[in-house]
Amino acid sequence: MFTVAIDGPAASGKGTISRAIAAHFGFAHLDTGLLYRATGRKTLNGTPALEAAQTLVAEDLQGDELRSPEVAQAASKVAAMPEVRKALVDFQRAFAQRAGGAVLDGRDIGTVICPDAEVKLFVTASDQVRAERRWKELTFKGHKVTVDEVMADLQERDRRDSTRADAPMKAADDALQLDTTTLSIEEAVAEAVKRIEARQAEL
Ligand code: DC
Repeated sequence: MFTVAIDGPAASGKGTISRAIAAHFGFAHLDTGLLYRATGRKTLNGTPALEAAQTLVAEDLQGDELRSPEVAQAASKVAAMPEVRKALVDFQRAFAQRAGGAVLDGRDIGTVICPDAEVKLFVTASDQVRAERRWKELTFKGHKVTVDEVMADLQERDRRDSTRADAPMKAADDALQLDTTTLSIEEAVAEAVKRIEARQAEL
C-alpha cells in the first residue's frame, strides 16, 4: 500500500499530474472531485444533497455534463455540507488502501481523508493561468464562456472551498508545493515522481 495525496484549487493541474503519476507507477487513481460533482448534479435535478451522496453508483461518475460550470458550482455547494462529506469518506479511504498503490486528488486528501499518505502534493497556479486553461477546456467542449466568466467562477469556488468550516482546502504541513504557473506539466510531474521515488526508497 502506498498513497499519494494531491490537493489544490480548480484547474491547478492536479488532475493531469495525478493521471501522469498513476500511469507512471501503475497506481489506481481517484478524482474525488467527481464524487462531489456527481452529488451536485443530482441536486440540480431536485434530489436532496445527503440522499444524493448516499446513493451514488459508479455510472453517476460518468458523462461530460459533470464537467460543466453549473455542476462545478453545485459540487462546491454540496461539498460545504458536513453530512455530505461524511457520507463520502469511507469510499475514499477504502480506495486509498488499494494494494497496488493509489493516487487521490481533491481538496482535503492530505489533511482529512489520508493524513498518513506517504506523499502529499499541493498544486497551485496563478488565477490567470488557471482561468485560461479551464476556458480552453470548456470552449473545446462547446461551452460559450469568456475567460473573465471562468475566472469569476473559479474564484467563487476557491473562496467557498477554502473558507468552509469542514475540511477546507488547504495544504497539509508536510505537502510539497508545486506551482504550475512557473513549472510546465512535465516539470511538475518530474518533481512529483522524484518525491515519490525518494519515499519508496525510504520504506
Ligand atoms: O476538483 P473539482 O474541481 O472537480 O471539484 C469540484 C468541487 O468539489 C470543488 O469545487 C470542491 C469539491 N471538492 C471537495 O470539497 N473536496 C474534494 N476532495 C474534492 C472536491
